[in-house]
Amino acid sequence: MPQQSDGLKTPPPAPPRQNGEGSQRLPPPDSSGGARGVLLQIENLSKVFHIRQGFSSQEFHAVDKASIVIDSDKPEIFAVVGESGSGKTTLAKMVLGMEAASEGILRYKNRVINDISSKEMKTWFYREVQPVFQDPFAAFSPLKRIDGYLFETAANYKMADKKEAPRYINEVLSEVGLTLAEIAGRYPNELSGGQAQRVAIARALITKPSLIVADEPVSMLDASLRMSIVNMFRNLKDHSEVSVIYITHDLATAFYAGDRIAVMLRGWIVEMGPTEQVLGNPLHPYTQNLKNSIPSIRTSDAWNEKIDLAVIETDEYTRTGCKFAGRCPAVMDICHDNIPPSVQHQGRSVKCFLYEDDGAPTSQKVATPALG
Ligand SMILES: Nc1ncnc2c1ncn2[C@@H]1O[C@H](COP(=O)(O)OP(=O)(O)OP(=O)(O)O)[C@@H](O)[C@H]1O
Ligand code: SF4
Ligand SMILES: [Mg+2]
Repeated sequence: MPQQSDGLKTPPPAPPRQNGEGSQRLPPPDSSGGARGVLLQIENLSKVFHIRQGFSSQEFHAVDKASIVIDSDKPEIFAVVGESGSGKTTLAKMVLGMEAASEGILRYKNRVINDISSKEMKTWFYREVQPVFQDPFAAFSPLKRIDGYLFETAANYKMADKKEAPRYINEVLSEVGLTLAEIAGRYPNELSGGQAQRVAIARALITKPSLIVADEPVSMLDASLRMSIVNMFRNLKDHSEVSVIYITHDLATAFYAGDRIAVMLRGWIVEMGPTEQVLGNPLHPYTQNLKNSIPSIRTSDAWNEKIDLAVIETDEYTRTGCKFAGRCPAVMDICHDNIPPSVQHQGRSVKCFLYEDDGAPTSQKVATPALG
């Protein structure tokens, strides 16, 4: 993985994108967007996997009754954080339609994802909801010129005809701080990691998605490039009306970019709410633990190390009671045998026996996971 700085500039705010301008975008099958106001609704979503133990196997919930609502009226960056093996990628894969949920409901623009036909998945859903992965080079063949991917995606989704395509692709590349001239004819290994990730994001933007699910998009990049990619997501949100589910180990960029945040622990969302509140004043002992492993919430440079506290993953996944009980400094008797409820407390949801529902309205919409 190239680690050199590519001298990338922070992209200027992109101009507002206008649907159909210079392109031949097809209307989505549900052009009304379904119920107004909700882009993505994740309701009690679970994924069960099995751990092999000799000749037998044991079930565990890699994602356990996760509930999140993302509005369509106001694009946002929704950060998902948690140590390795907390279920972040599994959640992302379910949202992207790459992994079937074991239980629960996923709705996109008020349509249950499971009920969408494979044809509509191809013509509509995969255009609306685009992934960005950790390793940009994995998405591109080393033998193929990188601009070819952009032209192919534009053609496949009928975003621009042959004549319009270069102009359209250049316009999309400008949203990630690149130009077609800069990348035309180049092979992936001729780009830096930062440039390749920008092209991967541009490829995702070609279809004019409403939601990008970015799983660790900066973790393979040099620290100096991370903020520029994160800034780019903010620009996309502000100027192109794209919401982003931003999955990361890096609390600094989550704090900087996230409007709201969900903290995951062994499949549970243990704390969720406005990022400033959750990371500024964490309530759940696990969130406090994550934050305390970082010297200062304001000095982002100190936050560049991966947080990896996972030592007892299987034990925690299969534990009765609170999954954090084995590590929690505030553990009580009740925590060992009982699953804590998620309560609304100080403007966020928190899954811990230390807190009672304060009945106060949350400052932003926060879905309430079902108990246990
Ligand atoms: N296909 C699978 N079969 C069995 N177990 C799986 C499968 N995919 C993931 N897991 C397990 O589910 C748990 C959650 O994994 P997941 O990849 O979602 O975590 P993560 O939070 O993305 O971790 P990381 O930060 O390391 O990427 C882990 O214990 C993982 O080993
Ligand atoms: S429920 Fe108990 S063990 Fe779990 S985080 Fe809260 S205090 Fe700690
Ligand atoms: Mg992952």
